[in-house]
Parts: sequence; C-alpha cells; structure tokens
Amino acid sequence: MNPVLDARLEAVLELVQAQVHADIGSDHAHLPIRILRAGRASRCIAVELNPGPLAHSRRSAVRSGLGERLEVREGNGFDPLHAGEVDSASMTGMGTGTIVGVLQRAGDKLPAALVLQPNDSPRSIRQWACASGYHLMAERLMPGYWAYPVLRLERALGNDPAYVGVPLRAALRYGPHLLREQSPLLRQHIQEDLLRLTPLAAPGRNAYGELATAQEALAWLDDRRAEQNRQ
Ligand SMILES: C[S@@+](CC[C@H](N)C(=O)[O-])C[C@H]1O[C@@H](n2cnc3c(N)ncnc32)[C@H](O)[C@@H]1O
Repeated sequence: MNPVLDARLEAVLELVQAQVHADIGSDHAHLPIRILRAGRASRCIAVELNPGPLAHSRRSAVRSGLGERLEVREGNGFDPLHAGEVDSASMTGMGTGTIVGVLQRAGDKLPAALVLQPNDSPRSIRQWACASGYHLMAERLMPGYWAYPVLRLERALGNDPAYVGVPLRAALRYGPHLLREQSPLLRQHIQEDLLRLTPLAAPGRNAYGELATAQEALAWLDDRRAEQNRQ
C-alpha cells in the first residue's frame, strides 16, 4: 500500500526530483517510499539518528518491497553519506535550528538540491542559503497544525534573484516567492503573527522587530493588491 502523506509532505514530494535522494530524519520513511513509487528518484537513502524512528524506517523499508532502491542508514545528518553520493536531500518536520545545524555540519556532503520543511520560522534557512551559494527555486505554504513552509534550494552562482523587488526583511521571514504569490494562507499567517506579537512588542524585545517585519510584509501585500485592483 502507498503510505498516505499529509499536505506538507505531499508538497515536499512534488518538489523532489533526483537520481539519488537522501531523506534525513526519515522516521516512518513514508516520504522516500512515495518518492520512489512516484519515480521522483531512482534510489533513496533514509537517515535516522534515534533508535525508535530508525526501527520504524527499517520496518517500513522492508514492507515497501522496494529492495535495494531504499536503504536505511543510522546516523546524524549527512554523517552516514559519502561526498557526492546523493544529488538531493530533504529534511522535514524538524525545527529550523536543527535543520540549519545539520546543513552547517554537512561540508562537502551537501548535495546540489535541498527540499526543507521546518516547523517554525524558516528565516535562518533562507539566510543560510543566501550565505552558502543556494538559490530559493520554489516555496510552498501548506495548511496543517500550523502553516508549514516548504523550500526548494539549488546550488547556484551569484546573488539569489528571488529577492529582487521584495522587501528583504519581510522576504527572509515570509518568503520572496510566497509574498509574490499573495496566497490567502500567507495573509492569514501574517495576520495571526500580528495578533500574537502586538501585546508582546516593546522596544528591545525580539517581538518588537518581529512585529515590524510582519507589518512590513502585510503592507507590501496590501500595496500589491491595491495596485492590481487599479489595473
Ligand atoms: C518529527 S520527526 C519528522 C519525521 C518526518 N521527516 C516527517 O516529516 O514526518 C523528526 C525526525 O528527525 C530525526 N532526527 C532529528 N535530528 C536528526 C539528525 N541530526 N540526523 C538524523 N535524524 C534526525 C528524529 O529522530 C525524528 O525521527
């Protein structure tokens, strides 16, 4: 049977296209199974750090009947992979701090394409990408317990053109492609941030800067909408 993916992992699946793909922090291994069955990679390596999820990955891999096309390895981040072994990797359902830590430790094992789905603000992933030679090729915002961002990054030269024409601070927090798309879910997500941050914001507090960023993002969306209504 095909494992059912929730909306965030369906979005990740659609953004993976690889020869050999690594899913790091795979747990149930549902994502690599679906990637292989959908023909979005020829081979997958599921990496897991913790014993319970590792056993879960191994059980799912055996049950999938995918044989050598799906390999499960124990380890931390990219540690159990060789340089150049995979051309793409995903990390999903983790905190941004964990994801960025794994990326920073990966060194020459980092593949050319990454699909990342953090559970909290992806700002530091976007900042890492700008500083590390990756461009933001696609973004999705998926409904769920929270609004889940999904980012596809690809290694590329020069400054990332995704950030041209959008306010940088708002784009690093909410996503340049997502801002341009002006989806109702993004607007709702920003409005929820405004409600949450307004009572917390005082000069010198983190929430003060976060609130200003949310206000800037909403003002930019409102300006675009007004401009489109005039056309
Ligand atoms: C919340 S689960 C998400 C599972 C799955 N990726 C998903 O999106 O549904 C996070 C998984 O990442 C694993 N993990 C956390 N840090 C890791 C690391 N540095 N290397 C490998 N696996 C890690 C955890 O053991 C856990 O199984």
